[in-house]
Amino acid sequence: MSAVASDSAASAQIREVAVVGLGIMGAGIAEVLARSGRAVVVIEANHDFLARGLARLHSSLDKAVARGRLTHAEKALIVARVRAADSIAAGAAGADLVIEAVPERLDLKRAIFAEVDQACRADAILASNTSSLSVTALAACTRRPDRVAGLHFFNPAPVMKLVEVISTVLTAPGAVQTLSALVRDLGKTPVGAGDRAGFVVNPLLLPYLNHAAGLLETGHASREDIDKAATGGFGLPMGPLALLDLIGLDTSLSILEALRAELGGSRYQPTPLLRRLVEAGLTGRKAGRGFHEYGTAGAAAAPAGDMSHNAAPGPPPATVALIENGDTALADLGNALAAAGLNVVPHPAPEAGLVVVAAGPGRRVLDAALASGRPADVVGLHLAGRPGAKPELAELIVTHLTAPGAVAAAGALTAELGLDAVTSRDRPGFLAAAMIYPQLNDAVRMVEDGYATPADIDTAMVLGCGYPRGPLQMLDDIGPATVRDVLSAMHACTGDPAFAPAPLLAEHAASGTPFRS
Ligand code: 3HC
Repeated sequence: MSAVASDSAASAQIREVAVVGLGIMGAGIAEVLARSGRAVVVIEANHDFLARGLARLHSSLDKAVARGRLTHAEKALIVARVRAADSIAAGAAGADLVIEAVPERLDLKRAIFAEVDQACRADAILASNTSSLSVTALAACTRRPDRVAGLHFFNPAPVMKLVEVISTVLTAPGAVQTLSALVRDLGKTPVGAGDRAGFVVNPLLLPYLNHAAGLLETGHASREDIDKAATGGFGLPMGPLALLDLIGLDTSLSILEALRAELGGSRYQPTPLLRRLVEAGLTGRKAGRGFHEYGTAGAAAAPAGDMSHNAAPGPPPATVALIENGDTALADLGNALAAAGLNVVPHPAPEAGLVVVAAGPGRRVLDAALASGRPADVVGLHLAGRPGAKPELAELIVTHLTAPGAVAAAGALTAELGLDAVTSRDRPGFLAAAMIYPQLNDAVRMVEDGYATPADIDTAMVLGCGYPRGPLQMLDDIGPATVRDVLSAMHACTGDPAFAPAPLLAEHAASGTPFRS
């Protein structure tokens, strides 16, 4: 049999699917399955949750109709394939596959797996959409551990193209093959992974999100700038704080706790601000407020820890001193400033209204600021963006001696250059690299551990999180040596071993070998 024929034979075995739990993920998964033509039973004991989940499913389909992606008749057919049940006994008996999508609590999931195991046919496959808990522990609650696996969808499930298929040491290869074939039949890409906390994506994504929340909490940058640095500096579809709000702060917190319990290390230690927001019930989009606010009338106070450096914009200075400090784009910067009609001088002359240090993310701006003799007038400027491409983002770096007027003047100057700007403290990596390079290092560690290949990691992050390029490809494009140097500076500055370059990264940097061919 050809691979395509065997795939369609395997996915054809799954005609009816029961989805247990109708939260955001359960509703999205149910929609994807019903759209594929399968009968779907949504099992939700709580009537409010059921009503909310069905409303979510309907509104997602309505959006597709409004955008011309579905006809009214197609929507009606999809809806007709979905049936609700208020108990596992009532809903799971006829299912070929059951997907559990309840909150991330191992005790709750274990109880559900034991109950589903009793209610289902012996040949049914049981899968969990868990983000980080042990699939093996769930398999152990059943009499069919060979037919238990993880099927990890990404939010929003109707949109994101990745599904991680997790096999335990007990999962039969046939069950993995059937689930992978089903994922392909749903129009998505399966990436296989072993049963390690968080699988491929979450151990890379969540520490990065947590670190971003920590940068907000410690006043390194404002929430808007943190998000803008990720989208403008690296082309990511959403900033980390907006993504935390999408995933849910409570879900993010439980994933971090599971990662920390299994993998250890400071990268997984939830930042106190994340915990406090969860305790306050500000769990993100679903609550109407997390790091940002959603759908509320009028502006409310910024969340705790939002300590923006951004000052009100002032007029651009007529003369600017431009001093080199490690940024190779100095000549381009000088030309751009001159083209904008500014008089550029190469030293901090008295007539210069602003002293700009063309800064590199591995070097402290303060040293150049002190050497200039006019530290209050000094702002570091770093142009971030894809190597070789036109910079899209200006990073303004403020030392503890920079005067607010200088920050405002630098903001006016970047506006004159037509660049979006973010402001951060004078710490290695500045803002964009400080957030993203540690994630690249984590990806290298995952390769080093033998858990996933560079190609699988890149596929997972592109399809699961909408990255324009995967982390290993990004690393190659930036250059392993550049990333190593910035990480070493971050490590030296913070003392946090999580920032120390992974040995494999140091090797690639030393030999100049890329991770992707
Ligand atoms: N449900 C259904 N469809 C949705 C949707 C939702 N919640 N949100 C957006 N869409 C659809 C839109 O209808 C639109 O469809 P169309 O192209 O057919 O018209 C399409 O997605 C694009 O939407 P928009 O134009 O409104 O918005 P964007 O272009 O800004 O894209 C996004 C939105 C797809 C969410 C994009 O910002 C993105 O890819 N963000 C990254 C999301 C991410 O990283 N997800 C993974 C989180 S980690 C996870 O889930 C694992 C868990 O264990 C924590």
